Amino acid sequence: MLMRGFQKTFSIVFGGTLLLSTFSGDACSIVGYVGGKYCKEFVLKGLSRLEYRGYDSAGFACLTQQNHDLLCIRAEGKLDQLKKKVLNEAVDGFVGIGHTRWATHGAATEANAHPHVDCHNTLAIVHNGIIENFFSLKEQLVAQGHQFVSQTDTEVLAHVLEVELQKQLTLDAAIVDMVSKLKGAYAFIALMRDKPDTLIAVRKSSPLCIGLGNHENFVASDFLAFAGKTNKILFMPDESFAVVTKQAIALYDFKGNLLAQEIKTIDVSPATYEKFEHEHYMLKEIYEQPKVIKKMVDYYVNNEQEVWKNLGISPDQIAQLQSVHLFGCGTSWHAARIGQFFFEILCGLPTSTSLASEFRYMPFFPKKNGLYVAISQSGETADTLEAIRLIKAHELPVMTLTNVVSSTMVRETDGHLLLKAGPEIAVASTKAFTTQIASLYWLAHRIALAKGLITPERMAQAEQELKQAADVLEEAIERYKVDMVKTYAKKYSQAKRFMYLGRHVGYPFAMEGALKLKEISYIFAQGYPAGELKHGSIALVDLETPVVLFSHLDPVIYQKLVANAQEVKARKGHLIVFAFEGQDELIKLADQSFIIGRVAPLLEPLAMAGLMQFFAYSIAKELGCDIDKPRNLAKAVTVE
Ligand code: F6R
Repeated sequence: MLMRGFQKTFSIVFGGTLLLSTFSGDACSIVGYVGGKYCKEFVLKGLSRLEYRGYDSAGFACLTQQNHDLLCIRAEGKLDQLKKKVLNEAVDGFVGIGHTRWATHGAATEANAHPHVDCHNTLAIVHNGIIENFFSLKEQLVAQGHQFVSQTDTEVLAHVLEVELQKQLTLDAAIVDMVSKLKGAYAFIALMRDKPDTLIAVRKSSPLCIGLGNHENFVASDFLAFAGKTNKILFMPDESFAVVTKQAIALYDFKGNLLAQEIKTIDVSPATYEKFEHEHYMLKEIYEQPKVIKKMVDYYVNNEQEVWKNLGISPDQIAQLQSVHLFGCGTSWHAARIGQFFFEILCGLPTSTSLASEFRYMPFFPKKNGLYVAISQSGETADTLEAIRLIKAHELPVMTLTNVVSSTMVRETDGHLLLKAGPEIAVASTKAFTTQIASLYWLAHRIALAKGLITPERMAQAEQELKQAADVLEEAIERYKVDMVKTYAKKYSQAKRFMYLGRHVGYPFAMEGALKLKEISYIFAQGYPAGELKHGSIALVDLETPVVLFSHLDPVIYQKLVANAQEVKARKGHLIVFAFEGQDELIKLADQSFIIGRVAPLLEPLAMAGLMQFFAYSIAKELGCDIDKPRNLAKAVTVE
């Protein structure tokens, strides 16, 4: 049986400072303030901290100090646009809400930006998630004479609340009735002219938490928004709502029953979220990798009992284990594909990998003695959460491999293994990817040890291999970083498209390489199995399509890769290789080679990851792209 590990506080010691290991969030971000201070400053600062979660428009609303008029300001584009508008306004109040948006319903225009208001400008709402039945609700409201000015589902919430407040005698009764009408996953915060000292916070499936201050309270989709203001946090339970004033919080379930409040103490050093001397968070996070990988390994080694307990896997379960099932999205799925080799080769367990976004639409064959592992940096990705829920509906235990201890996935699954990578702010995942690989490598060895397949000495050696690969990752960046920026980035930023090739663990790694390049530089890239080149894609090989080939240390696979390199050269393709020291045959074939120190063969992707990410980063920088916040993207996609 899997056991669910219960943790009351999430503080850990990291780099000598007490801070939070990870954090949670949403595609869009919402914040709210009620207290004795002007809210503008907190709301804008909170939004700045969360902006990387969604950044195509933003908005702010407050009740003015005089008359409690509702002031609502919205702006298209990044948060700076909103800041300019809000800071020009002389008016401020003690109750306010804010939002940064990643559009799902309606284009990223000012009209669609949150907050949304009701017909008479008496209330304003900011919202994350999707109201699935918004269309039918809107039809009913329009029929009743309500007027809409946006294409969003959120505006419907404002009008439903308007109706309920008129109908019901109490605020809590209005919310109970309101949520009974809503379908979907959502978190929203509302303020109302009639209740000028109150915020309403409502949560279903989408994260929302309340920070308890001194005569002030904060609401946010991620507690990072109020880090440094308070360390007392109430993570709202799923399907709950709160009536929040500066003095008190009343928490209810969706039936209107009062709930007990579990307040956690989380110390977050706001410095964790600084870029310091780095131009971009992505660069900072690329450089952090050796340190966080080693710290993660040390954490696993030094806290063996706690880590094992949190995994929730009993010795019986290990003995009976017959298969492993890894699933996730995007970069996390690539890590899963690499991890598949670890469990098959090291534990002899058949291992499947699934894209969580496809999982629910495929036939599901429950495996009683299977280990189901959800992989997710944020622990909030909607597709992955839904896959977890489907597996759990079959009464199968699920474990989460995540960077975020306070995430919904940790709460909803039976065990977890933490990546300990520290907050990953850049939208493009870097250190989460390498810690995912490292942690899967560690887990596969740990399961092999528990099954008696390897000795404790071999386990210790594997831990050393991880640290050595982390060193190699660092050396590789150091070796090339100057030339990469000065020469290669200039040259390769001119390319129209790229092809990334690999075999074995190098194939999912090639997919990750291609994803990294396209998401931040907007240059098209395709990750492809090198052996498949001759089955079709070779038609694309020309001078304008550089081919990036990731080498392998296994002699047989290496020779096949050399053959693939020759195929590219024979078609006059431009060949870039990431090769290991001593692989001269391949290096000589290349137009450009990046040579990397040797590591344990299964850790090749880990060793090459830093330089591969730096390659994409340098090209995107050369092109002047907004690297930390690439267009159309958001960190943690909490909508399906
Ligand atoms: C790419 C990237 C995404 C995420 C994906 C899953 O750089 O970050 O592909 O990996 O959206 O997110 P998580 O891991 O938070 O579930």
